[in-house]
Amino acid sequence: MSTIVEEIEQLKREKDAVILAHYYVDDDVQAIADYIGDSYYLAKVAVKLKERTIVFAGVKFMGESAKILNPEKTVLMPDENADCPMAHMAQIARIEEVRREYDDVAVVCYINSTAELKMHSDVCVTSANAMKIVKALPNKHIFFIPDENLGRYIASKVPEKEFIFNDGYCHVHKAVTADVVRRAKEMHPEAEVLIHPECTLEVLALADYIGSTSGIIDYATKSDNKEFIISTELGVLYQLKQQNPDKTFYSAGAVQICPNMKRVTLEKIRNCLRDGSGEVEVSDETREKSLIPLQRMLELAQ
Ligand code: 13P
Ligand code: SF4
Repeated sequence: MSTIVEEIEQLKREKDAVILAHYYVDDDVQAIADYIGDSYYLAKVAVKLKERTIVFAGVKFMGESAKILNPEKTVLMPDENADCPMAHMAQIARIEEVRREYDDVAVVCYINSTAELKMHSDVCVTSANAMKIVKALPNKHIFFIPDENLGRYIASKVPEKEFIFNDGYCHVHKAVTADVVRRAKEMHPEAEVLIHPECTLEVLALADYIGSTSGIIDYATKSDNKEFIISTELGVLYQLKQQNPDKTFYSAGAVQICPNMKRVTLEKIRNCLRDGSGEVEVSDETREKSLIPLQRMLELAQ
């Protein structure tokens, strides 16, 4: 009898499929993925693939973005209920209100958002490219949706712009408090502290490095230090340990687990490939309008 990994490999060949995975999914899923990365890398990869079918081991906004960028491909989500709560934490009515209030505003939409929010935005960003893109925009006013924490971090780095914030947040990163990080630092005084910008500014103030999941992995890999305190979803530990078997990684302490990312399993990947289930569908109108900010991101981030 073949193993589940062999079944997946066989189905991938039959369906001309490729598996993309975010660093937050379980280790065994990352281990069989063809491409693993942060949100920016995965969006870039999605536009270069030759395979007919993309299996997205991640949350809904990722599969949706892959479909918007590749309408001719079949995009399958292993678990259709794997959704990022923050992706829904902004209102179209508020965007319209801000647009009425500020003539020159750019609505900057973190990629962790629904296609509907993207439709009403001027440009998308990820944590890896937000600073570069916001700096490059000609607009003085920036309405940053949906994540307040990432917005406040970028605002602190781009003081020449005026930001309007929205009150969305990632519950995983919000759970990390400054006290928790300070305690981890006391326990591991030699460790460098690597923090994702979805954490609050108070937590970010304790960081030796702030960056996206890929940025955190690159920083730890290149650093001469041997110990690190990690403040982001703990799925990143798989790649950190693979690339740095001689280094030690500590969690900052809070429960840094994204339950939605953890919904993706090998069984569900096998099932969606076998049955064609979990197909992402986006209407023509939504696709046409939400493609504009996504493409603008890919151009401005280069
Ligand atoms: P990045 O991988 O782009 O850093 O994003 C983190 C995240 O929360 C994805 O859901
Ligand atoms: Fe959303 Fe946070 Fe989970 Fe990322 S870690 S998918 S931002 S809930």
